[in-house]
Amino acid sequence: MDRFRDANRAKWDELVQPHLTSGFYSVDALRAGNRRLDPIVEEELGPVAGLCVLHLQCHFGLDTLTLAQRGATVTGLDFSGEAIRAARALAQETGLSATFVEGDLYAAPELIPERFDLVFVSWGTICWLPDLAGWARIAADFLKPGGRLYFADCHPLAYVWDEGQGACEAAAGRFKTKYRYFHDPAPTELDDPDDYGSAHKTVNTRTYEWAHPVSELVTSVAAAGLAFEFLHEHPTITWALLPSLVERADGLHAWPEGTDPLLPLSLSFSARKPDGLYSN
Ligand SMILES: C[S@@+](CC[C@H](N)C(=O)[O-])C[C@H]1O[C@@H](n2cnc3c(N)ncnc32)[C@H](O)[C@@H]1O
Repeated sequence: MDRFRDANRAKWDELVQPHLTSGFYSVDALRAGNRRLDPIVEEELGPVAGLCVLHLQCHFGLDTLTLAQRGATVTGLDFSGEAIRAARALAQETGLSATFVEGDLYAAPELIPERFDLVFVSWGTICWLPDLAGWARIAADFLKPGGRLYFADCHPLAYVWDEGQGACEAAAGRFKTKYRYFHDPAPTELDDPDDYGSAHKTVNTRTYEWAHPVSELVTSVAAAGLAFEFLHEHPTITWALLPSLVERADGLHAWPEGTDPLLPLSLSFSARKPDGLYSN
């Protein structure tokens, strides 16, 4: 497992500098004090002022610091040392208060003693994690009673499509599959220099990802003791997951005009920890 994690971390370490300067990540808007989260999260998350928030897999802390800018007390965790260094530097530069912790998701309970009102997880997260039930237990344990887990990410079904399929095939409903939908403990090995967030071609091309179907995601969260408030499926996503997707004016990426049937590209949910389950 370490081999997979080390390879993934090398790629994420390498992507931090390109992302800091790419248009995909609106760092300048954070500096200007007017950064918005993506439209899906923006609509669903609700006010965070006064909340203690834990952002898991926070990358270089852009969303974490955006939440801090809105009055939340934030902690971000990521296993990329480059990302955490950049996050701390960005906090210092912008004068925003935040705690950033370098560590693997599964080591988080040993690294972070606090409990939170909100655990925030978004975009490109659980595909890097082999054990979803373990992830959900960790997220739930970090919550105070009455606290909630907010999650937004690629829809598990959207990961199966062949990225080589053209816009015409999608529009005609001739979707071609390439990747597995159901979970396999053995990860999918990918070898790709491309980056969704910049024109950078990576040296660390090899990564390992795990598929997690919707049933595994929902069952893991429910088994961790959280009660679903909503689960939404969206025909849009925050990045160009497939070349055939079209970027809309609001920055979300959607299937080309006329695609039939319209299939989900992302999924989001809020799940709350009932009072009385808090053990510490
Ligand atoms: C697509 S990025 C998440 C982007 C993030 N939502 C944001 O606000 O920019 C995925 C992040 O997961 C982190 N990551 C991947 N595997 C991890 C693990 N096992 N433990 C902790 N962080 C991990 C990577 O370092 C990377 O920063």
